[in-house]
Amino acid sequence: MTDFSALSEEIKRLIKSAGPMPVWRYMELCLNHPDYGYYVSRDPLGREGDFTTSPEISQMFGELLGLWSASVWTAAGEPSTLRLVEIGPGRGTMMADALRALRVLPPLYQALSVHLVEINPVLREKQKATLAGIRNVHWHTDFAEVPDGPAVILANEYFDVLPIHQAVKRETGWHERVVEISGSGALVFGVAPDPIPRFDVLLPPLVRMAPVGAVFEWRPDAEMMRIAARVRDQGGAALIIDYGHVRSDVGDTFQAIARHSFADPLQSPGRADLTAHVDFQALARAAEDVGARTHGPVTQGEFLKRLGIETRAVSLMAKATPQVSEDISGALKRLTGEGRGAMGSMFKVLGVSDPAITSLVALSDDARHAAEGQPA
Ligand SMILES: C[S@@+](CC[C@H](N)C(=O)[O-])C[C@H]1O[C@@H](n2cnc3c(N)ncnc32)[C@H](O)[C@@H]1O
Repeated sequence: MTDFSALSEEIKRLIKSAGPMPVWRYMELCLNHPDYGYYVSRDPLGREGDFTTSPEISQMFGELLGLWSASVWTAAGEPSTLRLVEIGPGRGTMMADALRALRVLPPLYQALSVHLVEINPVLREKQKATLAGIRNVHWHTDFAEVPDGPAVILANEYFDVLPIHQAVKRETGWHERVVEISGSGALVFGVAPDPIPRFDVLLPPLVRMAPVGAVFEWRPDAEMMRIAARVRDQGGAALIIDYGHVRSDVGDTFQAIARHSFADPLQSPGRADLTAHVDFQALARAAEDVGARTHGPVTQGEFLKRLGIETRAVSLMAKATPQVSEDISGALKRLTGEGRGAMGSMFKVLGVSDPAITSLVALSDDARHAAEGQPA
């Protein structure tokens, strides 16, 4: 049994020796510490776990992403080898559903080599079980290990677990938010004493005008740039799906999720999932900065409807028992609907492609305008 209180002690030891720790470093240790990190030690998914993702809600999600991948293969000129890559593949459910849908296209199915980028050994075993019997599947701990060639790269709920920085606006400027130790020995939030030099000039105009007390979050651009540079140079496209906002803005979205409820992010390091919303404007800018083309973002509800999820639901329901039919209808509402518990407008979808691919299915500009009409 992993001793997570050891991580709390380790974090306090580091703070005592090196001073308050940026939120970014705290999040990284909680998620990826080699012995006690949340994503190094467990399967967090499903009813018995901490959260449920779209592929675990319904097979329709992965099937439609499979068909979307086929449309990229066509747009890329039907290359004889296509790398189908998933970063952060959870239990392998989405890939299994995508591959089942792709079996109806033998020329593409024969051209596929499947690559799963996963750091979690527990989930890697589950992926192996889910994908047992499928040929040409390879695992990697780093995206850079995926062999060259045109690729479709899928990432659902991956970017939200990448660590964020936070800065708090004070009269004196923007100060990095840190984790420190209170007088009673607990982990608490604080701010670095000195402002971040020349930080204002890096900020989007909307954020520069924020009032004192506002919190701004950002992630390093490196991961998006690596993915974008890959499709720019080798062809194909990436699809990023996550919860977040279409415009960069202020707001504290750093949160812990355990047992399907929000928890205090400082309470039990390594025991809860730590996440923050994804800034899709920043992701798109990072991809465009390296010369890739971006498509969208659109809302998940719009994206799935454009791919035909309603028709797929009707055809599955036609063959189902009344109970299963009700489950399919519930899944459809959850994946595409709005409001509490629904993912249709909270989740966004961004395409990033080789600049030679001028449009991607279901991610056209009119859909982008629909997404911009949604609250950020
Ligand atoms: C929130 S889960 C989403 C799982 C899956 N995509 C789904 O939708 O069910 C995040 C996934 O990313 C993996 N992960 C976290 N950090 C990672 C990293 N640095 N590199 C690769 N995978 C990572 C986790 O182990 C897990 O598979």
